[in-house]
Amino acid sequence: MAEARKRLTELEEWQALRKHQGEMQSVHMRELFALDRDRFRRYFTEAAGLSLDYSKNLITDDTLALLMALARRCQLPERIEALFQGDTVNLSEQRPALHVALRNLSDEAIQVDGQDIMPEVRGTLARMEEFVWRIRSTQWRGFSNKPFTDVVSIGIGGSFLGPKLVSAALKPYWHGHLNCHYVANIDGSHITEVLRYINPETTLFLIQSKSFRTQETLENTKVAREWFLHNGGREEHISKHFVAVTAKPEAAIDFGIAEENIFPMWDWVGGRYSLWSAIGLPTALTIGMENFRSLLSGAHTMDQHFRTAPLERNLPVIQALLGIWYGNFWGADAHAILPYDHYLRGLPAHLQQLDMESNGKCVTQHGDPVDYDTGPIIWGGAGANGQHAYHQLLHQGTRLSPADFIIPLQTHNPVASHHAILFANCLSQTQALMQGKTEAEARTELEQQGLPPEEVDRLARHKVIPGNKPTNTLLFERATPRIVGALIALYEHKTYAQGVIWDLDSFDQWGVELGKQLGADILQRLQSPSPLSGSSDSSTDGLIALFRSRHHH
Ligand code: F6P
Repeated sequence: MAEARKRLTELEEWQALRKHQGEMQSVHMRELFALDRDRFRRYFTEAAGLSLDYSKNLITDDTLALLMALARRCQLPERIEALFQGDTVNLSEQRPALHVALRNLSDEAIQVDGQDIMPEVRGTLARMEEFVWRIRSTQWRGFSNKPFTDVVSIGIGGSFLGPKLVSAALKPYWHGHLNCHYVANIDGSHITEVLRYINPETTLFLIQSKSFRTQETLENTKVAREWFLHNGGREEHISKHFVAVTAKPEAAIDFGIAEENIFPMWDWVGGRYSLWSAIGLPTALTIGMENFRSLLSGAHTMDQHFRTAPLERNLPVIQALLGIWYGNFWGADAHAILPYDHYLRGLPAHLQQLDMESNGKCVTQHGDPVDYDTGPIIWGGAGANGQHAYHQLLHQGTRLSPADFIIPLQTHNPVASHHAILFANCLSQTQALMQGKTEAEARTELEQQGLPPEEVDRLARHKVIPGNKPTNTLLFERATPRIVGALIALYEHKTYAQGVIWDLDSFDQWGVELGKQLGADILQRLQSPSPLSGSSDSSTDGLIALFRSRHHH
């Protein structure tokens, strides 16, 4: 267990960063680039097939040295090792967080409670391999002996976002005859729209829930089961069509899933870190097990980098510290994830859960209130689309949101000059955000257009763009399984490293519980046939009454 440490904001390293920020306030990145022709080369680093250009940040060598000193003072290297060693890094739930074990392709044993967990991890991968092979080779078929055509994954949160991201990211690697769909929401429209186009005879349902207690998932599973039974399937066919992934096999068996159709999960894997486990089955079924293993191997390469690279060249650590720099010293509340890759369009949604559920905390891992900001609001979307929507705020708004621009050097789909245009768009955004446009430049531009002086005066102020907005550019050759694995692992480790600096438990999520607790009572009050009883606040009461007025006659 980590020793209680001095308050973060009282550390000399923290104070030094505060002072340094004051000095940096009058510096413009334009000047930094003008002064140092070598800036790109100096602030560029690579690992696991990913390259990071972090030269367009409000940093100098001094900034980096101060940030690294803070990381060392917070014992980041020791805490990274603790993660890999299987120490209890999730203090509130008294557990390790061993997603790295799921992609541990080395011979290293990893102990939990004195037991090596690797044989079980490898055993589960072997079971997945066999299952995927049986489905894909059409050995395992539906009740009318037709091969499966569709897989429906029912799960939410981490049991949804990770696999959904990876399935979409690796669409070019889908081969075979299987289509994959996801049902997450308790909004009936979601499952209705999925069931509308599939055939029960050729559909396999994967019920994905670590706890096997999540309301949305269990209710959607009941609907899927009823639909199956009303459309030709019989009770004795359920075991051919329903498979579960869970850490609570007894609950799945009680629910009616055949014991031999249950894949394990473990307490030591957090939901938002679970796509590497059997929760990744929807992906493995569509891309095949070989590609799924490549995904794991890419993540493993990033793991080794995170564990062994010096902090100064450590990609997740650099990204984490830059986030601390802006969040804690420049007042940035948000961080944008902007993939310039259609296949990676699900990345912001996955990282929202990963980062915001991990580091959206207001007490330390020991339960003390924090007096500094913690995890940022993660937002974003696919480029270039965002340029015609929210980038305006990035360029001229009053709020600061650093951004990661993520782009492949090569596309899976060369179409006309599209990729060069996409790439140009990406670079022009980071360049514009960095350099901005001065009033003098705006005026010259307008004058060159031949506008009369009063028009130049009127428009110039609107056309000024402050610039000096920090961005990272993350590049890779092409979004292959290895690269996608490394990319997701990079953000997992960035999140952990920030949690270490902020002294958080990045692996619990108590904040999501209150809504679930209150939801049970509200549901009961919405559905109760008797007149409205009990009362909470007038807003909730009023809204309950409104709902009841439409549903009780
Ligand atoms: O409500 C949040 C959460 O607990 C997430 O952390 C988790 O990924 C999701 O719900 C789904 O949980 P489960 O896999 O247990 O159904």
